[in-house]
Amino acid sequence: MRYSILTFGCQMNQRDSETLAGLLASMGYIRAEKLSDADLVIVNTCCVRESAENRIYGHLGELKNLKNRKPHMVIGVCGCMAQQPGAAEKIRQRAPHVDLIFGTHNLHRLPELLRKLWEKREPVVEIWESDGDVIENLPALREDSLKAWVTIMYGCNNFCTYCIVPYVRGRERSRRPEDIEREVRELVEKGVKEVTLLGQNVNSYGKDLDPPTDFASLLERLDRVEGLLRIRYTTSHPRDFTDRLIDVIAASKKVCENFHLPVQAGSNRILERMNRGYTREYYMELVEKIRAKVPGAAITTDIIVGFPGETEEDFADTMDLVEKVRFDSAFTFVYNKRSGTPAAEMPDQVPAEVKRKRITHLVEVQNRITLEKNLAEVGTVQEVLVEGPAEKHPDKYCGRTGGNKLVFFPPLPDKVGQIVPVRITAAKMWNLEGEPLLADEGEK
Ligand code: SAH
Ligand code: SF4
Ligand code: F3S
Repeated sequence: MRYSILTFGCQMNQRDSETLAGLLASMGYIRAEKLSDADLVIVNTCCVRESAENRIYGHLGELKNLKNRKPHMVIGVCGCMAQQPGAAEKIRQRAPHVDLIFGTHNLHRLPELLRKLWEKREPVVEIWESDGDVIENLPALREDSLKAWVTIMYGCNNFCTYCIVPYVRGRERSRRPEDIEREVRELVEKGVKEVTLLGQNVNSYGKDLDPPTDFASLLERLDRVEGLLRIRYTTSHPRDFTDRLIDVIAASKKVCENFHLPVQAGSNRILERMNRGYTREYYMELVEKIRAKVPGAAITTDIIVGFPGETEEDFADTMDLVEKVRFDSAFTFVYNKRSGTPAAEMPDQVPAEVKRKRITHLVEVQNRITLEKNLAEVGTVQEVLVEGPAEKHPDKYCGRTGGNKLVFFPPLPDKVGQIVPVRITAAKMWNLEGEPLLADEGEK
């Protein structure tokens, strides 16, 4: 039996799909080369914005055509979209060819759910209302051999007023530091060089554990893992980013100098309505502290425009912050109503054409800044983890800088999995180009 998994949404979902793949492999399934070869297709969904949901329904429509030609094909839908209240009925209605629906809290039950499906020969729906305990030791089939995602905590307690994630991912639950360290050591033994620690808000890591611990201590612990070259993490909330955390990162050997700090808005009024728990002044001071302590820090962000009640003046505050902070790059979003969240009920929704105008302006300005920041790296020497041939430029190799910028350079087959110094020679919007600085031939 062959399977295929289609994954939407954030890294958390991508990591979940690796667990789904691991569970299927342990049942004897093998990965299908092509979607049309699959006997089982699982769609791991996202619902953070409507556009994600629409794309998923589009894919479900295509799968229907496949299933018409191949009636024994089993189609499953899981993840955040399935976890929303009433979602299972909606999916069954819009896509009656779906055989199996499960949520974010019971993905480890996939083998049992498939067995149930074989026995009953009718659709199986199982969504757990609430999150359970963290489950350790589930198998995983990782996508990449050099870089791995490691979930350190599940859920989110922040309830930003626009966001659906806390409703579909449950409350914050941290994994024990020793379990995380064990997983990282096992990965390193298998050849992994870089881990990205995952959580919706990694800086509240460990508060729920007994005894409690914190994210800074976890970083210190993982920094000592021999053979591991790099540690990344995502996402950190600006509110909980402590001075101690900055100091630990500055002193660490392996934690990369990339700070993804979603600001969301530059107006204090809007930040308050979003329930973000910080002001623009606090945020800008945090950025300054980071830049003072971590040379070469790359600061990236997420921004939402058109949040309910956002006036021209509020938007100008966001643009002002963007110009002042000068982010290395930004993910920019148009506010999208998510039903069940407080912002969806706010009366002063911003008209679509105003949102469109604002996002166009924001993207234009940020693109210019991104290019300027990249151009400023030309002539510098960056540490790059060599990954291998670049997908779109087969004559080149690629890798990333500590600041997480993609660099293309001439092939270095002997250096895959190693960090090499690369002199940056050119910069574009989406990537840099460089020349590796290799030791002299005669040198040992
Ligand atoms: N936990 C992470 C990311 C969550 S979702 C964090 O707090 O940073 C990723 C991004 O999607 C968010 O940072 C936000 O910018 C955006 N987003 C979330 N809900 C949204 C909505 N309803 N409309 C538009 N963008 C949204
Ligand atoms: Fe959503 Fe806010 Fe939690 Fe991020 S911190 S997942 S934006 S509620
Ligand atoms: Fe989407 Fe769920 Fe991630 S809603 S962004 S896949 S946590």
